[in-house]
Amino acid sequence: MELVFIFLLLIAVVSIPLLVVFCMAFIAQTAAEAASNEVLPPDARNAFPVELTGHASSVPVATLAMPVAPPFIPADLSPGDTRAVDADVSGLTFRVVRSPSDMAFDVGYRALWNEFGEAHEVETRDVLERRLAWHPANPVDGVSLLYEMIVVTKNTDLSVAGVRDHTAIVGLERALPCVLVHLSHNWVAPEFRGKGLAGWMRAFPVDTARRACRVAGLPASTPITLVAEMEHPEAGLPDRIPRLRAYEKAGFMCVDPEQVPYHQPDFREPSIIDATGGARPLPFRLILRRVGREQETHVSGAELQEIVEMLYTMYATSFRAQDVAVVRATLARYPSGDARIKLVKPTLGATEAG
Ligand SMILES: CC(C)(COP(=O)(O)OP(=O)(O)OC[C@H]1O[C@@H](n2cnc3c(N)ncnc32)[C@H](O)[C@@H]1OP(=O)(O)O)[C@@H](O)C(=O)NCCC(=O)NCCS
Repeated sequence: MELVFIFLLLIAVVSIPLLVVFCMAFIAQTAAEAASNEVLPPDARNAFPVELTGHASSVPVATLAMPVAPPFIPADLSPGDTRAVDADVSGLTFRVVRSPSDMAFDVGYRALWNEFGEAHEVETRDVLERRLAWHPANPVDGVSLLYEMIVVTKNTDLSVAGVRDHTAIVGLERALPCVLVHLSHNWVAPEFRGKGLAGWMRAFPVDTARRACRVAGLPASTPITLVAEMEHPEAGLPDRIPRLRAYEKAGFMCVDPEQVPYHQPDFREPSIIDATGGARPLPFRLILRRVGREQETHVSGAELQEIVEMLYTMYATSFRAQDVAVVRATLARYPSGDARIKLVKPTLGATEAG
């Protein structure tokens, strides 16, 4: 009897540690498998359909399965654009472009080039193609980027009724989480002006910001700022004024140009830049809509510097370092972080100039 007891005791002494080691190995393997499947934060998976594709490197890449059309969310309209809820868009098709091979990209780019190409106000086509390859799950220099083009066509003859493009820039390494949407271009065909389409085109980027945040792992409540770079009003160039007025009526505000010398990088081909003596940054106005804070009359120097640094970080991904360095140098002339910078009407100075 005593021998049987000693035998059982020996079996227990040997098998219990073995069992513990086996259980720990099983738990570790299960956790590793779960981690290797986890490409996006859990809430991003629920936000919208996501296809997961393999990638040559060890880091899997998630492909955004984008909505075919942008969502019409009345709460996203700017305070001055609320009439757009009555807009009749039933005869129009809205498409979110996510790939350069999408025919809508070709159509949209041509429309933008027709309107903005001559004045070098639109990036070259290859720059936009590279932007379409950005994915907010793969941050670059501390920011997650999501570029979209929205192309609107008439159902009757498939002609273009409007095009807009923009980039959500999610700040990941900032003191306060934030998402900026850089509004590149908004073009509405003359036939559709004054009917509310432009208002919706100014609202869609708000949802782009939320989607980029979800994929980047930031909450949907992350503060959103829409920012447009606009030319200053200038004598003899009256075309600039309607653009500024459209933003003004929508409720956007302008960073006081007297206090802040904002410059946009040179969009020209590098060969042309080199042949003409180097990059020529363009002086522009910064037009802001801080979503939910539209009534505020000032922006701090610190917030403004963040905004401009995020814009230049985005530009640095597709322009040459030396061309971006020229505009970055202008930051040295900006007001200090604790300065209170006035937000003025976008058309300030337009009556004398235009
Ligand atoms: C800038 C641009 C997009 C503005 O488009 P738009 O339709 O003329 O401008 P808005 O959205 O401001 O609309 C203008 C009017 O439509 C009105 N409107 C809005 N919704 C409406 C509706 N549902 N029914 C009737 N009118 C409506 C607005 O109240 C506004 O009226 P108001 O001017 O009497 O105040 C357009 O002029 C354009 O494409 N220009 C060329 C490209 C360009 O310069 N782009 C901007 C720089 S990227």
